[in-house]
Amino acid sequence: MPTCDDGPNAENIKPVISTVISVVVPTYNEAENLPVLVERLHKAFGGGYEVVVVDDSSPDGTALVAESLARDFPVRVVVRRGRWMGLAGAVVEGARAALGEVVVVMDADLQHPPEVAPLLAARVLAGADLAVGTRYGRGGGIEGGWPVARRIISRGASLLAKLLLPEARPLSDPMSGFFAARRACLSSISPTGRYKILLDVLSQCRPAEVVEVPYVFRPRHAGRSKLGLRHMADYVLQLMRITGWRPLKFALVGATGVGVAEAVLYALPLPYWLAAVPAIETSLTTNFALNNAWTFRDRKAPWLRGWLKYHVANLAGIAANYATSNALVLAGVSRYLAYVVGVVAGFLANYLLSETYVFGRKAVDISPRTSRRA
Ligand code: GDD
Ligand code: MN
Repeated sequence: MPTCDDGPNAENIKPVISTVISVVVPTYNEAENLPVLVERLHKAFGGGYEVVVVDDSSPDGTALVAESLARDFPVRVVVRRGRWMGLAGAVVEGARAALGEVVVVMDADLQHPPEVAPLLAARVLAGADLAVGTRYGRGGGIEGGWPVARRIISRGASLLAKLLLPEARPLSDPMSGFFAARRACLSSISPTGRYKILLDVLSQCRPAEVVEVPYVFRPRHAGRSKLGLRHMADYVLQLMRITGWRPLKFALVGATGVGVAEAVLYALPLPYWLAAVPAIETSLTTNFALNNAWTFRDRKAPWLRGWLKYHVANLAGIAANYATSNALVLAGVSRYLAYVVGVVAGFLANYLLSETYVFGRKAVDISPRTSRRA
C-alpha cells in the first residue's frame, strides 16, 4: 500500500551539480543570438558551468528567450529594470549573481567564439588571476578584416589606454570584452565607464598573474552593435576617471610652469640662449613641486631624488624645448612665443617619462583589493 507520508521523494531532491565556472553574458537585444550561443557553450563546456544572462529589459524579448533556454540548459537570467544601462554594470551584477568561483565574461553576439571560453576559464582555474582573450596576439585575428577607419579607432583606443594606464601596457588587446577572472574580483568592481570593464578589472583588482589567450573575432551573428560615437567620449572620460584626471592635472601644472619661465625671461635682460637656462630650470622645479604635491600625490617621490629624476625624465623635453625655442628666436620670433612653442615640442615625451620613471609604482604599493576607489 502506498503511504501518504511526506517523506523524501526522489523527485524533490535536485541533483547538486557543483558550478565551477559562470559565463556572464550581458545582453541588450540579442534574442536571435542567445540560443546559438548557449548551445555552443554547452557543447564547449560539457558540464560544471552556468550561463548568467544579464539583460537590460531588451524590447526584443531577450529575457524571455533566456528563460525558455533555462528549461534545457544551466541558464539563469538577471533582468535589470531600465534599458541599455551599460555593459560594465551588467557584468558586475552578473558576477554578483554568479555561483562559480571563476567568471568568464563574453558578448552574446558570437563575435567571441564560445569554444574559447573554457580555455580562458582553464587558465584562471590553473592559477592565473586574469585571462584575456586577444585579437592582436599571435594566433588571434579578426575574421573578414575590418574597414580601415574601425581599425584605426580600435588601435588608437588601445594605444591611448597603454599610454595612460601602466596596467594596460602588458596586454596586446586591452580593449577586449572577452576574459576570465575570479568572481571575488569582478563582483567588487565599481565601474568607471559603461563599456570597458576590463580596464576596471586591471586598475581595481590589480591582478598579479595575467595571461592572454588568442581568439579570432567573428562578424556579428545577428542584430546590431550597440557601440557608437558617443561611447568614445565615454571611453576617454573613463580613462580620466581611472587615472584620477592625472594627464589633465599634469598639463595644468605644465601651464603654470610656462608662466614661471616667461616671468624669468622677462626679468633677466640677457640674450635668449642664456636667459632660457634659468627660465627652464625654475619652471622645472616648480613643476616638480606641484606634480609631487598634487598630480601624483598618491605616489609621492622623495624630494631630492625625485627632483633629480625629474630632470632626467625631462631631458628629452628640455633639449627639444631649448633647441626649438633658440632656433625660433634666431629666426626672429619673439622670445615669449618661441618659449611656448618649445614647451609644446617637449610635452609628450615629458609626460611619458615622468609617469613611467619619476613616479613609478613602489614595490610596497597598496594591496590589490584595498586599492579600490570608494
Ligand atoms: N545588459 C547590457 N546593457 N548589455 C549590453 C549593453 C547594455 O547597456 N550594451 C551592450 N550590451 C551587450 C550586447 O548585447 C552584447 O552582448 C555585448 O554587450 C557587446 O555589445 P556590442 O554592441 O556587440 O559591442 P561591440 O561588438 O561593438 O564591442 C564588443 O567587443 C569588443 C571586442 O572584444 C565589446 O565587448 C567591446 O567592449 C569590445 O572591445
Ligand atoms: Mn559585438
